[in-house]
Amino acid sequence: MLNVENLVVSYGQSEVLHGLNFSVAPNEIVAIMGRNGMGKTTLMKSLMGVVPTRSGKVSLADGEITALKSFQRVEKGIAYVPQGRMIFSTMSVEENIETGLVAHGDSKVPGDIYELFPVLLEMKKRRGGNPSGGQQQQLAIARALATRPKVLLLDEPTEGIQPSIIRDMARTLKRIRDERGLSIVVSEQVLSFALDIADRVLVLENGEIVHEDLRADIDEAKVSKFLSV
Ligand SMILES: Nc1ncnc2c1ncn2[C@@H]1O[C@H](COP(=O)(O)OP(=O)(O)O)[C@@H](O)[C@H]1O
Ligand SMILES: [Mg+2]
Repeated sequence: MLNVENLVVSYGQSEVLHGLNFSVAPNEIVAIMGRNGMGKTTLMKSLMGVVPTRSGKVSLADGEITALKSFQRVEKGIAYVPQGRMIFSTMSVEENIETGLVAHGDSKVPGDIYELFPVLLEMKKRRGGNPSGGQQQQLAIARALATRPKVLLLDEPTEGIQPSIIRDMARTLKRIRDERGLSIVVSEQVLSFALDIADRVLVLENGEIVHEDLRADIDEAKVSKFLSV
């Protein structure tokens, strides 16, 4: 569903991703683990076309998207929940979700989004900046789903969220995958969350993939070691 070949990304002279290769199958959940500064956000932003690709190739389903602008990538079916959520705080909850609708020219928030996140229906007229961290994360996921993606990217979704809410989030994301048949790529530093949700785990270290495990036979000790300073 998503295929990344020899992806190189740099900020000016400084190369941050040094030729990444990985792919994500339909319906698969892949966790990209790595400590701060290892390149997770840069990877997400480059997949979304927010930072330019120096070289390499990114394909979605069977089409190459490397040269496309962000909005075109969204139309092709890739959606993004950024680190820190980036909710539009002066817009209402409903208006935040509606920003995702333009990708397909829909005019109304589909009922199934509020079915997944009933609290957003209750709060739809409130300002986006008001809800708690966990609710804002639901809002950011709802906004991404409103674009009807084939691949959903989430950048450190558990950051700043309480453990009990993190477990709910894992359950919801698996439900979204099961019901909508989409693929999910999630960057994480919290191993328990990744173990809860992922089918496969990749470890990113200094802009390279240094380790890969299927969830079923993961070497937890080894992955933890990469995550500790
Ligand atoms: N806008 C930027 N300009 C220059 N360097 C950046 C920029 N954003 C991130 N970096 C550098 O790129 C590297 C990877 O950062 P990032 O992708 O944010 O890592 P992570 O999300 O894993 O914490 C770090 O060394 C960081 O300092
Ligand atoms: Mg980051």
